[in-house]
Amino acid sequence: METAAIYIGSGLIVLVAVQVITGTVVSVLSLSRQTKQNRLSNLFMLERIEAVRARRERESKNAWNGFRKFVVRQRIEEAKGTASFCLEPHDGRPLPAFKPGQFLTFQLDVPTEAKPVIRCYSLSDGPRPDRYRVSIKRVPAPRKEPDAPPGLVSNFFHDHVNEGDILDVRAPSGHFFMDPLAKPSAVLIAGGVGITPMVSMLRAIVDSGGERQATLFYGVRNGEDHALKDELTELSSNHPNIRVVTCYSGPRAGHDVKGQDYDQAGRVTVEVMKEYIKTSNHRYFMCGPPPFMKSVTDQLGEWGVPKDHIYSEAFGPASIKAKSKKPKDAAEPAAAAVEAVKVKVTFSRSGKEIGWDAGKASSLLDLAEANGIEIDSGCRTGGCGTCKVAIKTGSVKYESDPDCDIESGCGLACVACPDGDLVVDA
Ligand SMILES: Cc1cc2nc3c(=O)[nH]c(=O)nc-3n(C[C@H](O)[C@H](O)[C@H](O)COP(=O)(O)OP(=O)(O)OC[C@H]3O[C@@H](n4cnc5c(N)ncnc54)[C@H](O)[C@@H]3O)c2cc1C
Ligand code: FES
Repeated sequence: METAAIYIGSGLIVLVAVQVITGTVVSVLSLSRQTKQNRLSNLFMLERIEAVRARRERESKNAWNGFRKFVVRQRIEEAKGTASFCLEPHDGRPLPAFKPGQFLTFQLDVPTEAKPVIRCYSLSDGPRPDRYRVSIKRVPAPRKEPDAPPGLVSNFFHDHVNEGDILDVRAPSGHFFMDPLAKPSAVLIAGGVGITPMVSMLRAIVDSGGERQATLFYGVRNGEDHALKDELTELSSNHPNIRVVTCYSGPRAGHDVKGQDYDQAGRVTVEVMKEYIKTSNHRYFMCGPPPFMKSVTDQLGEWGVPKDHIYSEAFGPASIKAKSKKPKDAAEPAAAAVEAVKVKVTFSRSGKEIGWDAGKASSLLDLAEANGIEIDSGCRTGGCGTCKVAIKTGSVKYESDPDCDIESGCGLACVACPDGDLVVDA
């Protein structure tokens, strides 16, 4: 819910609460006199809200179910190991708008794999009716396991996906997003390729004509990894409400120049943030590697930032958000240490019956994977619908409503927990 002012004549301004997304006027709050200049800017604001609402309504009609074919129209090398892929719908029809911060789900035929592979990539541009953009970083083998195969899909994109190629893509989804027209100032915190949804958010603020104040803290190793640099410079130079603070954890001597390429040496910490934002009273949007997010979240907590002012997304299975999604009142085997586990999950197609131990698994997907049962997954945060399973008997529960439609009798395995004994078709 946001507030807006409407000029109704004779110098009267009615302040109303406006649901910006739907455009529904909810209640009249108060009356006051305003200057002529304020009236004009209020009128302008109302027109803007109406235009955004109308555009969203129009564009949401263009959403699609399942996978849609997209052409890779442009590929741009953004930094070492990071490339952007600009996608246009193959059918040429307009695209639905998305909420800045949301992601696309891709299904790819990777020749080494027996079946199609699913991965999610955040939209890295503001909403446009003609194209989407994602920016993808190559994922190497883990440092501790250098002999493991490198990331399958990120490397496939870099090595094999080129302009003119056709990709299968699901409609934008996800519940990590920002309302560009909201009032509270925003602090965006990005680690590495976690910059992608942040650029989308900044672009959406600017494109909506909004005045929302936003400060981005962007942590990368050095100039080699500094993705989307020109775009961020353009956003902060041309828009007084947008500020970008870049931290290099390992600037290269003789290459990276402080004050020119980056602002601070070292990692993004709350101590660094305090140099730029004087109070903690903002809305925080964070995306990056899970250890980075955990550390910054803890520091924000110590600074007194309420948990519900922090929105975060982790790129991958070790998602902090996914773990926190376990319902507090899920079927916890409270007396597990002394009693046999009481709640049973039966995976009917695999013929396995497994005791639910909430201390070990945070979702049905975790439980299945830990027991060698294959369920397809993408985002692992309840946003893409890939892990949908049929519930044959019993029911599941969620901490918060998943962000995609689920038919009755189905559940999203990545965020669902059993609500008593359960039989799952997997
Ligand atoms: C909502 C969301 C948005 C995202 N947005 C972006 C984005 O904008 N940009 C972006 O670049 N990424 C993004 N990601 C991450 C992306 O979806 C992929 O997770 C990422 O590209 C890695 O996928 P991959 O197939 O390359 O790696 P995977 O094949 O999934 O491998 C992951 C890691 O496991 C290692 N590994 C593989 N096999 C083994 C093995 N046998 N033993 C040990 N280690 C192994 C790999 O070396 C790699 O380090 C996002 C993720 C989510 C959930
Ligand atoms: S994996 Fe995306 S909703 Fe479960």
